[in-house]
Amino acid sequence: MAPPTKLTLTPICFLLYLWCLGVFVTSAWGSKARHFRWEVDYMYRAPDCVENVVMGINNQFPSPTIKARAGDTVVVHLTNKLHTEGVVIHWHGIRQLGTPWADGTASISQCAINPGETFVYRFKVDKAGTYFYHGHYGMQRSAGLYGLLIVDVEDGKKEGFHYDGEFNLLLSDWWHKGVHEQEVDLSANPMRWIGEPQSLLINGRGQYNCTLAVALDSNGSSLPVCKFIGNEQCAPNILHVEPNKTYRLRVASTTALASLNLAIGNHKMVMVEADGNYLQPFPVDDFDIYSGETYSVLFHTDQNPSSNYWISVGVRGREPKTPQGLAILHYKSTTASKLPILPPPRTPQWNDYIRSKSFTNKIVAISGSPQPPTNYNRRIFLLNTQNRIDGYTKWAINNVSLTLPSTPYLGSIKHGLASAFDQKSPPTTFVSTYDITSPPSNPNATYGNGVYKLEFGKTIDVILQNANALNANVSEIHPWHLHGHDFWVLGYGEGKFSNKDENKLNLKNPPLRNTVVIFPYGWTALRFIADNPGVWAFHCHIEPHLHMGMGVVFASGVDRVGKIPDEALSCGLTGKMLMSENHN
Ligand code: C2O
Ligand code: CU
Repeated sequence: MAPPTKLTLTPICFLLYLWCLGVFVTSAWGSKARHFRWEVDYMYRAPDCVENVVMGINNQFPSPTIKARAGDTVVVHLTNKLHTEGVVIHWHGIRQLGTPWADGTASISQCAINPGETFVYRFKVDKAGTYFYHGHYGMQRSAGLYGLLIVDVEDGKKEGFHYDGEFNLLLSDWWHKGVHEQEVDLSANPMRWIGEPQSLLINGRGQYNCTLAVALDSNGSSLPVCKFIGNEQCAPNILHVEPNKTYRLRVASTTALASLNLAIGNHKMVMVEADGNYLQPFPVDDFDIYSGETYSVLFHTDQNPSSNYWISVGVRGREPKTPQGLAILHYKSTTASKLPILPPPRTPQWNDYIRSKSFTNKIVAISGSPQPPTNYNRRIFLLNTQNRIDGYTKWAINNVSLTLPSTPYLGSIKHGLASAFDQKSPPTTFVSTYDITSPPSNPNATYGNGVYKLEFGKTIDVILQNANALNANVSEIHPWHLHGHDFWVLGYGEGKFSNKDENKLNLKNPPLRNTVVIFPYGWTALRFIADNPGVWAFHCHIEPHLHMGMGVVFASGVDRVGKIPDEALSCGLTGKMLMSENHN
């Protein structure tokens, strides 16, 4: 029996689709304004065949995919239909040049949108690439509020590679415990860890019982009877391909916790894009993807066309207690219902960091990409530690655990409201004697909401330094994501960054990205130019870590920011004051 395919459009979906696409207004240069009317709400859904409540948009989970062309303006009228909580949406990877108030970060770029209210996000998608969007208030990303944002090259422009068709895979992880309870658990004293996810989702579909059975089957060649048969909501996605063609696979990870690895049975892939930037192409059998990252890979359908093949994703960097997520590559030369003969590709050993590092080191920019300035103006060291504050478990950067203020920084900085947050800069380095190889000798830290003010136009280096967590022999992976900019990844290393590492930095062809991993007990160096006026979050993309304070805030050139929409200002102690200021 055939698992139903996701691509069948029922008349209702189709009508909804037309309605969601809304109106296109073509401008003089052929770029368009693309309007969307969206309503955020909870809905019943069985993403992994177990019914739960998820957050979706216009009754879809995952939320609708936005497709646009470079140069277009995206206009999203977002109405909050949640009854008792605010919401915001962040456009991950979009730099928001000239529109920092549309970045969608609660307490940073705007006030959370109240229940019943509508906020209009209007921003330009200036660069082709694979992006996504997600909730950025509390842990709403973990609640399932996410979708893809695909930006194609301008009309008439060509990319450096050819393909016959493309598919999108949005990867996420899923817990059966609701997100509010997760927030309470993580904030409790003592903290109650949320544990590993129950399932991994590909385009919002996972199979809680079924893949568990696959994983337990040691020869793995036959698929046990699964609950997903006939259940449209959790049936694996099917990618329908023709033999002997080239396809582009756009993959984005919005996981709350899991680092992943993706493979297609028997098919090699070529990496061509990361976070909206082109790479020097290189072949892989499988690849790692951390939360917040996106990749495009090309693959040829050059395998036996009378078979189908599994696409699998599995956990890296944490001892996996979650079965693989699955999708099916279906050769149209055979029937879609035929189960693949080969078992799903096995995910590499979770703690094989050598393998992860060797993959990561292969990622370099394609020639002709913008190169970094050879010198930096300012270098900031950020030490990641796990701490305890009054018995609560927290994450801290240079011993400060981030707590967000009630008045968003963008408005309070623009209008000089010094009382809105701590005016003292957080520390820009840590004590040189800090031992990163053992648990902190004094695990105490402080809460803080101070901001790093970056002089406009300057070149900033950030050295992310990992360390041992609270328990001995534990150091975790942290994927760090920067809002408002791409940065050059200058390099990765072991232990504590020191002067002798300076000449290991790659200034020749470092990749531009918006998310970068920091490996256990290691450092990662990155460089960017503070040339985008606004206030920008820089944080670990692991949702529970951010919730527990693992982030910092950069502000730069805020005096150059244009008039901030009132709706972005009307909250906190000082919202009304800010709005009247805004009109002067
Ligand atoms: Cu995708 Cu601030 O995050
Ligand atoms: Cu983290």
